[in-house]
Formats: sequence, structure tokens, C-alpha cells
Amino acid sequence: MSGHGPAQPMTSRRATPLKGIADIPGDKSISHRSLILGALAVGETKITGLLEGQDVLDTGRAMQAFGADVIQHGPGEWSVHGVGVGGFMEPQDVIDCGNAGTGVRLIMGAAATCDMTVTYTGDASLRSRPMGRITDPLALFGAQSYGRRGGRLPLTIVGAADPVPVQYTTPVPSAQVKSAVLLAGLGVRGETVVTEVEATRDHSERMLRGFGAEIETDVTKDGRVIHLQGQPELRPQVIAVPRDPSSAAFPVCAALIVEGSDILVPNIGLNPTRAGLFETLRDMGADLTYENAREEGGEPTADLRVRFSGDMKGIEVPPARAASMIDEYPVLSVVAANATGSTVFKGVKELRVKESDRIDAMARGLEACGVTIEEGEDFMIIHGLGAGGVPGGAVAKTHLDHRIAMSFMVAGMASKAGVGVDDAGPIMTSFPNFLPLMEALGGQFTRDNG
Ligand code: S3P
Repeated sequence: MSGHGPAQPMTSRRATPLKGIADIPGDKSISHRSLILGALAVGETKITGLLEGQDVLDTGRAMQAFGADVIQHGPGEWSVHGVGVGGFMEPQDVIDCGNAGTGVRLIMGAAATCDMTVTYTGDASLRSRPMGRITDPLALFGAQSYGRRGGRLPLTIVGAADPVPVQYTTPVPSAQVKSAVLLAGLGVRGETVVTEVEATRDHSERMLRGFGAEIETDVTKDGRVIHLQGQPELRPQVIAVPRDPSSAAFPVCAALIVEGSDILVPNIGLNPTRAGLFETLRDMGADLTYENAREEGGEPTADLRVRFSGDMKGIEVPPARAASMIDEYPVLSVVAANATGSTVFKGVKELRVKESDRIDAMARGLEACGVTIEEGEDFMIIHGLGAGGVPGGAVAKTHLDHRIAMSFMVAGMASKAGVGVDDAGPIMTSFPNFLPLMEALGGQFTRDNG
């Protein structure tokens, strides 16, 4: 789908102390990969805990267009009857990935080494995002791409009829780029090698191994070097999707800044390539503890216990941590506004090419709420006003970006005069139960158009 209907303006007023248990939906990254790898296996993959956000549903529909059977059996319970590596059929229509950068980029990779022509599109946000970072390495396999100026969607890829294996170093730290190359490598006889200088989320590698691919990661002085043998027979899996740390970030950060809060966020995935936010919050002085740490489905998990932390201090976030918390900077900037002193984000230019330009969206919205911000191409500094010190009283523009919408809803919860968002609709892409979940904890939200 392209767009989500009429805008849904909403206001978040100062919340009552947050109390209770926050049940977070399934991990978005792992949900996309479960459907795509399920479609590339021969036989039935069974999935529980699948995120039923619009992004993932769009990926499910795309897998059906390529010939897999994707069936819902109950809430979060799905099966995929896969067609096997090399078994994709040419879709009869354009593949519309809606708002999902992960969806479209991974699918482009998976289809690029199949002898077929596929056209991709998405909503206004996705159509503005760079795709050259994907089509450049796919060209090395022999796939040709024809997009709009700047390689933007809509974009047609003529898959390689006779693909060759590739050795590729990702030019930006991006799990989507790494994963697209690995998925393309599945369709090629021989070894595909991807090197990444900075570690990004490694769900693709873990899951490919789980599905039976021959894949190995060497940690070298040049970074992580991943070797994948092409044309494996992927075996269907039973997958329990862990809960999404990037979604957990919203109630966690809200509880830290709303006075009197004490919540439990059970069973959160703490893969080290994803957990940078929680370390950073603890460095700032957050009262955030891991209870019942364990391993589930090959991923480390724990229950997060979070209490209001009125004396958090601004810090410089280590740039080396950026990839492990790249989606969490928007909500961290809200915590930083409620901390004492300045918080510095460096090495974060990737934030400018997410669902929106997230540095610009957070800077403009926080400024309108009375927070002083400095920013440049790849940095942002938030001058904190201390606990409960953000005046608010503004309406933030969300630019079709779910995480910007949720971040400003969180900002409103600890603000003096409340914070509005021009459109809460995009929240459905990744966290469909965000509003009722936050309201049950103590959030005070009003829907502004009745
Ligand atoms: C994702 C990778 C990240 C992240 C996105 C999900 C993934 O994007 O921002 O939300 O599932 O691979 P980049 O690869 O652009 O960093």
C-alpha cells in the first residue's frame, strides 16, 4: 500500500506514573526475514510472534506474489510454504512495499539473481530513499536496475540470468545492504563474500545458518567478513520471533522520564548488535535492570525493569555504538531533553536517510517544544532541561515516520503542556498496539479529529 489514509493528529499530555507490564510485539527485522527465508525454503516454515505491522504484512504479500503461500493461523501465528532457492516466479504486478525500507531492500536482493523482471514501489517516504546502495552491489551479480533519478523507486530490476558470485565491502554500515547481498548470493553457484567494517545487526547470518545455509563470519582487522555458499537447499524452520528491542525503547524511555514510573517489559531481544540504547541509558544513569536473562530461539533475552530516573546526565554517545542503536536515536533525543547537561550524537549521518531525515525531524520538533538543539550533517547535540523540564505545547511533524511519531508521543508524556503529532498513522507500520499499550501504562492521549 502507498500511504495509510487520512492523517491522524493526536496529542500526548503529561502522563500519570507509568505502572504495569508492557507486552511488546515481535521484532520487525526478524519478522521480515522469517517470511523471506520461509519463502526461500522448500516446505512449511511455522512462525509464532510475527509482528503484524503494515511493513511486515507488505513483505508477506510480496512473498505471495513471488509464489510462496503465506497463511495466517491466529494472532502472530503464520506459516509460509516456500518455493526454494531459485523457485521464485515473476510477479504479475508491481511489488509495493509501502513504508518498508527493510522489506523492499531485502526482497530486491532475494530476487536479483533470479531470471525475471520485477518493479518495486512504496509510499512517499520509501520513494524518497536511496536505493543505489542496493542496486550497486546487485549490478555486480549481473542484475540491471532502472529507477528514477538518484536510483529512487519506482525501480525495475532485471534479474541476472547467469549470475556470478560477488565479493563486496559495504560502503555504509547497513544490515539491509549486507542482507540484500547475502540473499542475492543464495541464488548463485559459488561463494559470495560480504565485508562490513562496522558490525550491524546479524539476524540474517543467524537465520541463514538456522535454515541450513553454509555461512561463516570471520572477525578480522578489516571488520567482519561473511562467507556464504550459494545455491543451498534451505530447510523450513519453526521460528519464535523475539520481541523487538526497538519497540521496547518507547515504553522504556517513557518510564525513565515520567515521574513515579515503575514498569516491566518482558522478554526483550538483547542481541548485542541491537542493544546499544539500553547500555547508553545506563551510562546516563537510568534505573534499568535486566531480570531473568536467558536465551530464546538463539537470541539473548531478558525482562527489562525500568523505574523513573530523575537524575540522568547528558553524555557523548560513543559513535562506535551507532549501528547497534541506529533506530533508537529519536527516542533517546527525548530522554536527553529530560536529562541534565548536553547529550552528543556523533557519526549519525545514516539518520538522514531513514523513513525521514530523523536529525531534522527531531531537531525541529524538539525546538518547537522549547529544547535547544545543535545539529550538522552527521551530529546532533541536545541541551537537556532536566527531569520534566520540556515545555511542549507544539505539534511535531512526523513525515510518514513511525519512530518520529512515537518519540513525540513519549515527549508529551513528560512535558508541561503536552505535545501533538500531525499524524500518528505511521505507527501502524511497526507497533500496531502502541497507543493502547501506552494508555494502559498511564499515557494520556487524545485523538484530535474526533
Ligand atoms: C534493518 C536495518 C537498519 C534499520 C532498519 C532495520 C534491518 O537499516 O534502521 O530499521 O532489519 O536490516 P540500515 O540497514 O539502513 O541501517
